[in-house]
Amino acid sequence: MIQSRRRMLLALALSAGLMVFAGCQRAPKVDPALVARGKMVFEDQCALCHDAATAEKKVGPGLKGLFQRSTMENGKPITEATVRENIDKGSENMPSFKDTLTPEEKDALIAFLKTL
Ligand code: HEC
Repeated sequence: MIQSRRRMLLALALSAGLMVFAGCQRAPKVDPALVARGKMVFEDQCALCHDAATAEKKVGPGLKGLFQRSTMENGKPITEATVRENIDKGSENMPSFKDTLTPEEKDALIAFLKTL
């Protein structure tokens, strides 16, 4: 009797542990307010040259699936840091947004770009 109750407790503890473990495996939460803000910044500043809905070229490359790709056109890997650098510095045909956008706006933009 005591034995089986112990076993049940053990089973319960194990499944609770598994649930916590599974919880940790889930993708990091996206903040919907931040993403919405990023979408606004994108429409204001980037949509002129970039399509968010496809990977087709407008003035610059379409950004659909950006963070699922491994490299940018310039050969750099796609990470938060390199995309942020790209936004800050611009490139041959893209203006620099270093002083145009606040760090918060850039955080929001990146959160939005990650959803594409
Ligand atoms: C005046 C047009 C223009 C605007 C505005 C612009 N871009 Fe670009 N962007 C480009 C062009 C063109 C390229 C391709 C590289 C080049 O030719 O300079 C590019 C490249 C990129 C890339 C690299 C994509 C890849 O696959 O290599 C990212 C990311 C990017 N832009 C993000 C943004 C974001 C975010 C904004 C808004 C803050 C923005 N761009 C605003 C023209 C623009």
